[in-house]
Amino acid sequence: MARIVAGIGSSHVPAIGAAIDNGKTEEPYWKRVFSGFEKSQEWMRETKPDVAIIVYNDHASAFSVDLIPTFALGCAAEFPPADEGWGPRPVPVVQGHPALASHIAQSVILDEFDLTIVNKMTVDHGMTVPMNLLFGKVDKNAHWPCPVVPLAVNVVMYPPPTGHRCFMLGRAIKKAVESYPDDLKVVIFGTGGLSHQISGPRAGLINSKWDKAFLDNLSKDPQKLVKIPHVDYMREAGAEGIEMVMWLIMRGALDDKVDEVYRFYTVPASNTAVGHIILENHRRGAKAAGKHKPAAVKHKRAAARAKVERVRG
Ligand SMILES: [Fe+2]
Repeated sequence: MARIVAGIGSSHVPAIGAAIDNGKTEEPYWKRVFSGFEKSQEWMRETKPDVAIIVYNDHASAFSVDLIPTFALGCAAEFPPADEGWGPRPVPVVQGHPALASHIAQSVILDEFDLTIVNKMTVDHGMTVPMNLLFGKVDKNAHWPCPVVPLAVNVVMYPPPTGHRCFMLGRAIKKAVESYPDDLKVVIFGTGGLSHQISGPRAGLINSKWDKAFLDNLSKDPQKLVKIPHVDYMREAGAEGIEMVMWLIMRGALDDKVDEVYRFYTVPASNTAVGHIILENHRRGAKAAGKHKPAAVKHKRAAARAKVERVRG
């Protein structure tokens, strides 16, 4: 059967993509950001997922005010990079996994989550930036290391889904994946955030204390996060901080007990707090995964080293 072995939370700041595309990653401002993902890329190379489910939001690229699906599952064979106003990013076309995506759609819809099925869709920085951060820079004519099942969530137009709904959808996705007959190792991304506000009198708002508590509670007390109302995200984490509800789909798709194996937090990138976390299912799951256990142990040491970076952030 297929299984979700780990969850990855990552900001998806568009300026990070521009820094990669324009060769600025070694500049001091950006090196501070990219150095925090070196361990993550090492972890990803060791984990070698067969498929990644990436929860992200479209930023008026594939959708617009004409069409606002709350949850849109990409079931296509491929997803080209979107033109976000200055041409598509020079990244490979994202390969889909139509068989797994269709299976998830069937399972989740029969579990009473009314997904929108999308068979043609471009994907913007919300997806391709976290892919770069975890998989590294990939030549436009090469291939990403694994296929992707995209799940686009509306966090742009009110009303977005609640944190509880997101968490429960994650639970349904976990059940769907575990009923897929092929032996696939799956990881799931939650993207967006952390605290940031792009416009208005509070533009530039960053709340590191809120962000840190959110990251802490992903492993310590996710049920506390599930109860956070929209207005709290808006007040504490800024208007665009509501993107953080997408991380709860990722968290819901993991076991109740998880091990935080890596974390990185830095301020700012553009005008956004950059947050990143890797959660592996608790070692009971790691034992079942066999060769996955050494990576978990090894990266606990990485997590300890990352504390230094956390304090610096
Ligand atoms: Fe975003």
